[in-house]
Amino acid sequence: MCGIVGYTGPRDAGPVLLDGLRRLEYRGYDSAGIALVTEDGDLFVEKRAGKVAVLTDALGGGPPTAGVGLGHTRWATHGRPSDLNAHPHSDCSGRITVVHNGIVENFRELRDELVAGGHTLRSETDTEVVAHLVEDAYEGDLAAAVRAALGRLQGAYALVVMHRDEPDRLVGARLNAPLIVGVGDGESFLASDAAAIVAYTKRVIFLADGDVADIRPGSAVVTDRSGAVLDRPIDEIQWSAEAAEKGGYAHFMLKEIHEQPAALTAAMTGRLRGDAVCLEELDPIAKRLAGIDRVEMIACGTAYYASLVGAALFQEWLGVPARSTVASEFRYSPPPIDARTLVIAVTQSGETADTIAAARLAGDRGAIVVALTNTVGSAITRESHASVFLQAGPEVAVAATKTFVTQVATVVMLAADVARRLGRLPAEKDRELVEALRRLPSQAARTIEKAASIEEVAGRYASAAGYMYIGRSFGYPAALEGALKIKEISYLHAEGYAAGELKHGPISLLDPEVPLVAVATRSAVYEKLISNLMEGKARDARVLAVATEGDTQIERLATDVFWVPDTLEPLSTILAVIPLQLFAYYVAVKRGRDVDQPRNLAKSVTVE
Ligand code: G6P
Repeated sequence: MCGIVGYTGPRDAGPVLLDGLRRLEYRGYDSAGIALVTEDGDLFVEKRAGKVAVLTDALGGGPPTAGVGLGHTRWATHGRPSDLNAHPHSDCSGRITVVHNGIVENFRELRDELVAGGHTLRSETDTEVVAHLVEDAYEGDLAAAVRAALGRLQGAYALVVMHRDEPDRLVGARLNAPLIVGVGDGESFLASDAAAIVAYTKRVIFLADGDVADIRPGSAVVTDRSGAVLDRPIDEIQWSAEAAEKGGYAHFMLKEIHEQPAALTAAMTGRLRGDAVCLEELDPIAKRLAGIDRVEMIACGTAYYASLVGAALFQEWLGVPARSTVASEFRYSPPPIDARTLVIAVTQSGETADTIAAARLAGDRGAIVVALTNTVGSAITRESHASVFLQAGPEVAVAATKTFVTQVATVVMLAADVARRLGRLPAEKDRELVEALRRLPSQAARTIEKAASIEEVAGRYASAAGYMYIGRSFGYPAALEGALKIKEISYLHAEGYAAGELKHGPISLLDPEVPLVAVATRSAVYEKLISNLMEGKARDARVLAVATEGDTQIERLATDVFWVPDTLEPLSTILAVIPLQLFAYYVAVKRGRDVDQPRNLAKSVTVE
């Protein structure tokens, strides 16, 4: 949610910033802007409503040569998307510029105070107050002025600040929004995430909340807000810049769908030992796990659907109450939480504000908190007693695909490992699960090989008025996720519903223009699902089924079938969702949508 990048060093800063913004665009694309201190010592600012491409066009022959600068791509919160509200924002003197991700919650009060003090604020944004606060506090040392200004801010921020008169220096700060320092050879970076800078350096410092980073070409000093120097380790990014490129695919989403077999393999690497699932990340909390008497899962969006699979398995295998709650609602009716509650926060980015807030609440009440995330060094890892990484590699498309299937695989492994440690998972069951997990990547690959026939089917359904997705048990999260993909990227209405609930209302939506998409893979609830499918067919709806290879009955009942290989029921969510991802992708392409950057969305949502 908003991407920020800063550079200081011997390269020409403009192209580095524009390249970084393109890689951060998944975080928001309502507007884009850059500010540079040019070779002549002038401050250059260009910012435009719209995508980074609009900014690049506006820059014509390119930005002026500069050794330092900052850039921003926006997902609007305060102030509509416009050239004026686009970042960077400046102070009255035009010497200080700021980019910001987050929300300054007390900005109205600060704004009134600044205006009363003689400042002129031009935009509708919350961010602009920061530039003016730094202006008031500035006495020749940018880092000191930023630290003073931070003391006035309430809310969340990742900030980068630049002063025209200190032309090799940038100051960054974070609180509840991500910011990393890139440590290069004679050059330094600040960025919302590693994707923006990994082409230049893999050495990064993950800033913690409250940190202030003071960077120059050859140095990066991290302090707290009082100015005391902190010793922050330098980590090495484990993936390459190519991993975040399209690599010949038309869209990142299609590339990431095709990466799923490899992502599943990576998610399991080191975790299947002989006949058992073992997550060594849980070793440090093993003693505490022995006493758990309930499991609460918290997540948002796609991650929430993956967590539903985990909650069902924790309940089944551990025999304790387990449930999943949307993180934004969790806090309003928190369940009883104590030291015997295992809370699992599932979040691809590790930065989702609602999930972090819910995890913090659980931690404050004494729960054991485990993070399940794709992002090493992300905020959720600091709220947790143990972190289990998806190991899926970077996901760029806003619509999640490979991180959904790896989240499901990882929650299944997590539930199995906890159950094994507590002596509640029979060895035979563990072995059976390990064998099924090992088969998954090749089964996923086989499913993806059918992309051309899915594209052909999508062509026949792309003009539908809307879609009704149904599933039961482990098919239910797949139905929810399949419907979400359609909504996100084709802007068509799609309902994901528990199949048994169809008759309690949504069945009235079905007609020849609204197809029924049924997740009808082999399971204990197959027959009941077929009954629901028939209810739809009786209302003249076309029926598109996801079914298990070898099912001879379904062909007679459904209008079209997407075939998937057989697997254990808890893993069927993974295989069932793949054709639904491809279906949504091709429907969106046929409708001419912006698949990788759908309107109004952002991949990482750092506001509540
Ligand atoms: C945003 C994204 C979704 C994602 C959700 C949760 O809404 O557009 O794709 O599922 O955030 O993100 P997280 O990073 O916490 O998994």
